[in-house]
Amino acid sequence: MIPHNLPTIGQEEEDAVLRVLRSKQLSQGDEVELFENEFCDYLGLSRGSAVALSNGTSSLFMALKILNAKGKKILFPGYVCSALRHAVSMAGGIENTVDVEPNSPNLNMGIIKQNLPDISIIPHMYGIPIQIDADDTLVIEDCCQALGAKVKNQMVGLFGDVAIFSFYATKLMTSGGQGGMFVSKNQEYVDAVRDYREFDLRNDSEKRFNFKMTDLQAAIGRVQLKKLPYFLKRREEIFQYYKKSGLDLLDIDDELRGILEPVRYRAIVKTKYPRKLVNSLESVGVQSIIPTEDWELLGQREFLPNALKFSHETISIPIYPSLTKEHLDIILSGLVIK
Ligand SMILES: Cc1ncc(COP(=O)(O)O)c(C=O)c1O
Repeated sequence: MIPHNLPTIGQEEEDAVLRVLRSKQLSQGDEVELFENEFCDYLGLSRGSAVALSNGTSSLFMALKILNAKGKKILFPGYVCSALRHAVSMAGGIENTVDVEPNSPNLNMGIIKQNLPDISIIPHMYGIPIQIDADDTLVIEDCCQALGAKVKNQMVGLFGDVAIFSFYATKLMTSGGQGGMFVSKNQEYVDAVRDYREFDLRNDSEKRFNFKMTDLQAAIGRVQLKKLPYFLKRREEIFQYYKKSGLDLLDIDDELRGILEPVRYRAIVKTKYPRKLVNSLESVGVQSIIPTEDWELLGQREFLPNALKFSHETISIPIYPSLTKEHLDIILSGLVIK
């Protein structure tokens, strides 16, 4: 079976793990700090602006917490990973789920002006970046699916008040299965997250939580970050191969080329027959998925017509660096309805 997702792990990751294991410094230490700084370098942020955490959800919770989300109206799309609702609930925010743009997994900025939330969580879904234009709300940029994507030549993550990233096993790079990063240009926010993470041996009565990343995870993350440009290039090549073969894939609008630079986190095939295609792919040994099932939508469906339609008209096919041309041709052979 060709799996839908597969992390790309090599000798360098194995060597990094062994190095850290042998050092016996396993929990948060120098590797985490190095990873944070190298991540800032990658984004074009000054060093000290990133905090490594246990995963993307805890990074989002931290973002909400330091923006004082409790009792506030928090806008987020209904078409997204359930982690958003969990983090909003944990932070005591009031959910304001909204619909996405027609034929897109992304928000339209106009919806923020209509809803006037205190805080907006804006995900760049499936690697397709959004131009953020939202002055009247605090913005958490959710870059979990879009590390390396750019808007006007600047990396996503630099546009919100704060931004979060995930290094879960299926993401564009991983720090060993789980991991997350919080970033901000605002040093007070960064310091507040760092303070919250240092939960132990504190001589005050503040409540904190253990959301730390380990040195073992950070060492893998550092190697993967070095390989990220290659990963993104391979994904782009595969995406273009699919396109040349005639697939109708989700992409940025033509008029935004030159402004938006997507990364190919997902190859989303648009189809009126998603289940038939998933079955057809399975019959040639390929795993594909409905990327967000209708029952996964957050909020009341009657208010999410675009999300519902998008969910019913898309499948996600494998797109990861280790796929060979032979794999791609098998995948393409399964994309016909028999
Ligand atoms: C858009 C988005 N936000 C947040 C998360 C949460 O990240 P994590 O799984 O690392 O907790 C994910 C993915 O899992 C995601 O896709």
